[in-house]
Amino acid sequence: VSDPVNLHDFCARARDTLGESACAYLDGGASDEITLRENEAAFQRRRLRPRVLRDVTDIDTTTRLLGAAVAMPIGVAPTAYNALFHPDAEPAVARAAAHRDVMYVASTNSSCSMETIAKAEGPRWFQLYAQEDDAVTGALIRRAEAAGYGALVVTVDTAAPARRERDTRLSDSDTRAAQGNAAPGQWLEAAAPFLTWELIGRVRDSTSLPLVLKGIMTGEDAALAVEHGAAAVWVSNHGGRQLDRAPATLEVLEEVVAAVGGGAEVYVDGGVRRGADAIIAVALGARAVFVGRPVLYALACGGEQGVRDALRILDEELRNAMALLGVRSVGDISRECVV
Ligand SMILES: Cc1cc2nc3c(=O)[nH]c(=O)nc-3n(C[C@H](O)[C@H](O)[C@H](O)COP(=O)(O)O)c2cc1C
Repeated sequence: VSDPVNLHDFCARARDTLGESACAYLDGGASDEITLRENEAAFQRRRLRPRVLRDVTDIDTTTRLLGAAVAMPIGVAPTAYNALFHPDAEPAVARAAAHRDVMYVASTNSSCSMETIAKAEGPRWFQLYAQEDDAVTGALIRRAEAAGYGALVVTVDTAAPARRERDTRLSDSDTRAAQGNAAPGQWLEAAAPFLTWELIGRVRDSTSLPLVLKGIMTGEDAALAVEHGAAAVWVSNHGGRQLDRAPATLEVLEEVVAAVGGGAEVYVDGGVRRGADAIIAVALGARAVFVGRPVLYALACGGEQGVRDALRILDEELRNAMALLGVRSVGDISRECVV
């Protein structure tokens, strides 16, 4: 079997090695998985407008995310329970990201503690599932600050538990087996009907870390996010895993960018599978894209080395598409690049 040449190759291989329930949890979306499919399809509908004769000898993919220098406008999205996919779990992913200077976002529901993950010492943010008890949330925030996480990514699209039917059919409970950030006897809940803008205000007032709101899908909420002090708005439908029939993230990106009006950075995830996808999103106003499932497929295939390979492939694809598009730096990627 030859080495993977693109992210789809990792996916095919991972499905051969993972058990049925791990696969269902990784691959699955909510209900009819309409949104799950739409995320990728939306990227595939866009076309790039190549400009030629522009000397692309030196391509610079670097950028800054909330001030942090990163190698490319592609980061690793937060994902729970990585031990389901490989015994080296989150620390392996975080080390691969650090190796390439890529932003890594650690999930509240990681299999390992955030302190263990932070040992990778790369650019890192902490994804926060705010809890009903402010004291529990506060303790997580204090630990994230102490462990050198540079921002809090508060996930706001989990007001109700997901209806992922692949998981339900397998009546899977072992997805919840390994959990690294809970105190003994404590359960950190993702589904959070109690989430409000008022709670976001309390989180903001309790820390000096910049706040990112992940799971914004409308211009209205993007404007509210900026009003409530968010430093960045992260367009996401949770990879099609929460509200089925939500639009593709790429389809709402421009609406969100317009509503934010430069008042915050904008990121997007969902269906990013190629370096060119990052270019499309940046052209439409995103500062960066984040990748979820493909990183986990790569982890399942080869642990840290698998994720290093996946990130290298994304970097190579990004450079190649930038050169053929006639843009030398991320700042050169503009609205005219995409139709
Ligand atoms: C297995 C899995 C676990 C996830 N766990 C979390 C999580 O703990 N917190 C969170 O904010 N998002 C979580 N997400 C959503 C991702 O951060 C991201 O929004 C999504 O995967 C992006 O879509 P993509 O998989 O098409 O790249 C998870 C996604 C997957 C596939």
